[in-house]
Parts: sequence; structure tokens; C-alpha cells
Amino acid sequence: MNKLIITIDGPSGSGKTTLGKAISDRLGITFFSSGSIYRVIAKYFLDTNDLGFDNFEIISFEPLKIKIDENIYHEHDLYTKELNTKSSELAQQIEIRAIVDNVLKFVQSSADKGLVVEGRDMGSVVFPDATLKIYLDADEDIRSARRIEQSKNLETVDDISERDKRDLSRKNSPLVVPEGAIVINNNDKTIEQLIDIVTKNLKLQ
Ligand code: DC
Repeated sequence: MNKLIITIDGPSGSGKTTLGKAISDRLGITFFSSGSIYRVIAKYFLDTNDLGFDNFEIISFEPLKIKIDENIYHEHDLYTKELNTKSSELAQQIEIRAIVDNVLKFVQSSADKGLVVEGRDMGSVVFPDATLKIYLDADEDIRSARRIEQSKNLETVDDISERDKRDLSRKNSPLVVPEGAIVINNNDKTIEQLIDIVTKNLKLQ
């Protein structure tokens, strides 16, 4: 039997991480945020002004701890305004996307009980044969309000719309609705309503 894999794609502020963590808790499978890998590479770049590393190692998943050559990074270092922008910029490069794809394949092989993974191209490019693909969306004003709250007012509406524009219009793996994905509008759904949609659709697979 193929391993369970659920992908959640969508723009920033659509609620992917909240839903992904809730599914992971409910089903007892691993949750992983692919953006964290773009972010850690961006952090390495800002620290060293270089992208030519030899070793990339996930030391622990929960909380996420990563070693790139001799540099160690923790999950809580990765969610800054500067890294929001830099990760989105570097994510345009095909060579960086290839590195992240490899890391995600490793994550999948380590997730013995199954994986729920969120990002921008999880169902369209990285895991096209996923068991269930979700595309989560919400109106721009609602997404902006969520992001601004999550960033403790450090991000502005302009920062968010610029990042969305870049993630949507880039040449390599732009954000799209993956083939076969279930599209959910998350303007005002509760987490229980979202989980209900996911579990019902899982049964149909
Ligand atoms: O989801 P996030 O905000 O942590 O992601 C940070 C950036 O990484 C996002 O603006 C674009 C890039 N990204 C991507 O290109 N593809 C993914 N699957 C996940 C993130």
C-alpha cells in the first residue's frame, strides 16, 4: 500500500499550517512545512552571502533543527519579515527548488505513518501522486489580516501582496491549483469544518 500523503497548497494566510497541524494531530501523521526549507536556505544565504553549501541535515523535526555545513538553525529563527521576502525571492531559482525537492523526498521517506505537507507546489510538482490534494484559499483582505496578526504587525499589506505576486507569477513552479485538488474557501471555516472536509474526502480515495 502506498504511504499516506496529504498535500495542502495555497497562498500565504490561507490557513495551511493551522489545518496541516490539526490533520497531523487527528491522524497521527507527520506535519511538515515546505516553506521552512526555503526559509532556512535564505537564512544561510543572509548569514554567509553564499549558497554553495555541501551538507544539509535535518537534526530534529519537532521542533525543527537544521544544520547547513557548520551552521545550526532553529525553527524560531526562520519566521522574520526579512526571511519572508528573501525566501520568496530565492524560491524563484530552479537550483534552490531542486534542493528543497530532495529534502522533501527525504522528509517523506522518514515519515513512517504518513505525511501532511504544506506549501505552494506540493500537489502540483513535488508530490503529484499524493493520496489527497487540498488547495486552500481565502479573500485577500482576510489573508492579509491573518498574516499581519501572525507577524505581530511587522508585515504590511504591501509586503504580503508583493510576496503573493512573486509566488504566483514566477516561472518555476508557480502557485497553481494542482490537478485533482479539492479547492476549499477558508474565509470563515472552523478547524472542525475543515477537518471534516478532509476526512470525508480521504474516505473517498
Ligand atoms: O509558506 P512560507 O511563508 O513559510 O514560505 C516562504 C516562501 O517560500 C514563500 O513565500 C514562497 C516559498 N515557497 C515556495 O516557493 N514553495 C513552497 N512549496 C513553499 C514555500
